[in-house]
Amino acid sequence: MEVAYAEALQTIHGNPCPWRTVVPLNRMEVRNSDILRSLAWFCRPDSLAALRDALRNLTGRQNIIFASSGRCAIARILSLLPHEEVVMPAYTCDVVKAAVEVAGKRIVYVDIAKDSVNATSAAYAEAAKPGRVLLVTHLFGIPTDIEAICALARERDCVVVEDAAGAFGSRRNGRMLGTFGDFGVFSFERSKRVSAFRGAAIIVNNDQLLDPVRLEACRVTESKRVMPLREIIHALVYNAVTLPWFYGRFVLPRLVERYRNAPAIKDVSKEAAVLTSYYTREFHPYQAELALRVIERINTVRERIASLVSIYLSVFRNTAVVSLVPPECDQAALLRFPVAVPGKARAEILRLALRHGLYLETNFERPLAEESDYATRYPHALLARQNLILLPLYSTLEPPMAELLARKFVEIATG
Ligand SMILES: Cc1ncc(COP(=O)(O)O)c(C=O)c1O
Repeated sequence: MEVAYAEALQTIHGNPCPWRTVVPLNRMEVRNSDILRSLAWFCRPDSLAALRDALRNLTGRQNIIFASSGRCAIARILSLLPHEEVVMPAYTCDVVKAAVEVAGKRIVYVDIAKDSVNATSAAYAEAAKPGRVLLVTHLFGIPTDIEAICALARERDCVVVEDAAGAFGSRRNGRMLGTFGDFGVFSFERSKRVSAFRGAAIIVNNDQLLDPVRLEACRVTESKRVMPLREIIHALVYNAVTLPWFYGRFVLPRLVERYRNAPAIKDVSKEAAVLTSYYTREFHPYQAELALRVIERINTVRERIASLVSIYLSVFRNTAVVSLVPPECDQAALLRFPVAVPGKARAEILRLALRHGLYLETNFERPLAEESDYATRYPHALLARQNLILLPLYSTLEPPMAELLARKFVEIATG
């Protein structure tokens, strides 16, 4: 967000959309009632065991291991594997890069596919050398061709770690993402579908590679289990300030100022990364209780998301807006709706959008590999970094709001 908005705001002075109602980029699926009711976590004999059982039912896997965060889960798995090199997409969340470095591995990047957000088997085929880990991502809940990547890994003696951090509940050919690779990872971070402020689950699909008991015991840094009081207060406030009426009037002006004055963000070193609560805070039973509450109503959430996706798809049909959602994917499990507008600079779109009272999300804009390699080796990742825009998908987004947003977006794209 910082890079794209710093550029977009260069020629705008003051508040670009004063006193408007604005749809926030994301709202958590946990409601304030969940946050408060989960305080009674100690009344349940073992909330962690209850969440583990729920995940066992969903995935059909016995060994489910909790971690402080998705990044920490990835670092824990990798740190126990003897492999020295990890193949990962040149377009994904930068904390994943830091996690691989925390595990002490060398990174080999691959490009994402054309008109996709994911790296596919075609790219992994070039880099899948014996003894490498293939770290495979299903970005924003959109599946990559994971079966072909797993087949490749078996042929080439590679291990697959499936980063389904943002793809909870998404299925491919009826099978849940996160259950294909040797290990799968789901994140329960605030911006994800099952939001428990922070936390993750590792799905062990192949217990021959690593002893699940060792993986359960492994830590990449010292960590403690602490009741997340600060996060609880933060979440209650977040749920209040992300009400669209309040958000546009009081939150967005502050965000705009922050982007305008933001210094360039530097890469987080692995030493600094492990000092954050994403590594040092154990997943707490209270958080398990929160996750359980969202999982209990996941089918209702899926229905809401599917209807929002169908609105976006129908409004964008035959327009200048290109949807990067493949028609065959599990649309009810999408986390965001990625789009691009070919031939129009993103900064210009964001600027016009703000003027129309639309605040749009961008993500993963900073280079993971050497910047100079992007044009020649990772051109599609470069395009995604520079052009991708993410539209909101959460169950409290009202369908008429989504339709209005989509229509205004088309106007901006064609204007
Ligand atoms: C694709 C992807 N993988 C992993 C992570 C890390 O998850 P967490 O924030 O739980 O560490 C993220 C975070 O947003 C992500 O987007």
